[in-house]
Amino acid sequence: MEEKVAILGCGWLGFPLARELKDLGYSINGSTTSDHKIKTLKDFGINSFLIKLFEERIKGDMANFLKDVNVLILNFPPNYRENPNQEFIKIINNLSHEIAKQPNIYVVYVSTISVFRKTHPITKYNEEHEPYSEFSKTQQLIEAEKIILRLKNKSSILRLGGLIGEDRHPIKYIAGREKLQNANTPINLIHQNDAIDIIKKLVAQKVRGIFHGVYPKHTSHQEYYSKIAEERGFSIPNYEKDKDKIGKIIESNITQQVLGFDYKYEI
Ligand SMILES: NC(=O)c1ccc[n+]([C@@H]2O[C@H](COP(=O)([O-])OP(=O)(O)OC[C@H]3O[C@@H](n4cnc5c(N)ncnc54)[C@H](OP(=O)(O)O)[C@@H]3O)[C@@H](O)[C@H]2O)c1
Repeated sequence: MEEKVAILGCGWLGFPLARELKDLGYSINGSTTSDHKIKTLKDFGINSFLIKLFEERIKGDMANFLKDVNVLILNFPPNYRENPNQEFIKIINNLSHEIAKQPNIYVVYVSTISVFRKTHPITKYNEEHEPYSEFSKTQQLIEAEKIILRLKNKSSILRLGGLIGEDRHPIKYIAGREKLQNANTPINLIHQNDAIDIIKKLVAQKVRGIFHGVYPKHTSHQEYYSKIAEERGFSIPNYEKDKDKIGKIIESNITQQVLGFDYKYEI
């Protein structure tokens, strides 16, 4: 029987992921919070579900969304723009109760490298480092990972760096800006296609653990964004002289070894 993958959050990363997994022969349940996207998902052969997670409840047909599913990909970020005081941990707790009803589902939680602190001097973090933060929002992200890892289900955490792709690049927002503060901060980015390939490996291999997706090139912000601006015809951003080098470097050698993964899309 064909395997079924449920993607909770068919957004910028989740929608192309859904299409690629569909092309590989998986049956796909995909969710969105937006009425108008239901038809688009259907048009690509995705079984589409209108699901929205709130702090108090889940709106939508979770039971059918998870029915007969082999792999569940949690692929939505907290929404602090719309709801600055959102208690993300409550959302993840509600969700974990639903997931626990289906203990045979393998769960991939797409998290973020924001769980790691920037430091001076720079710290290198690999998959085995324990994240720590004194900030409440980041603490919730760290706790969200722990909730997923505590499930009886086999589960994995994938922490991604800043996502870039054909239609998304930070240079669009920083081109021409003045007095940027982070001249010497190392970059930690990943191309959308590499992120999708790592998730495809997880879906195929169903391994338990913590994984990182960050392209192994960590030049400084100033060097990187000046070069990209020049290549793409944007105005070069201006940086203040940094006294200290503050930031972090996220390594992913363990992920590469365990999954047999090589980055293909140079940053
Ligand atoms: N963007 C980055 O640079 C970055 C960096 C590191 C990690 N990540 C992680 O990568 C994953 C994908 O990010 P993305 O950039 O593709 O996000 P995105 O474009 O904002 O897509 C998020 C998806 O989740 C859905 N969603 C949002 N809030 C929801 C809620 N409360 N309940 C149910 N569904 C909800 C959205 O619904 P609609 O379809 O209605 O919009 C959308 O389909 C996330 O887990 C994020 O934390 C992203």
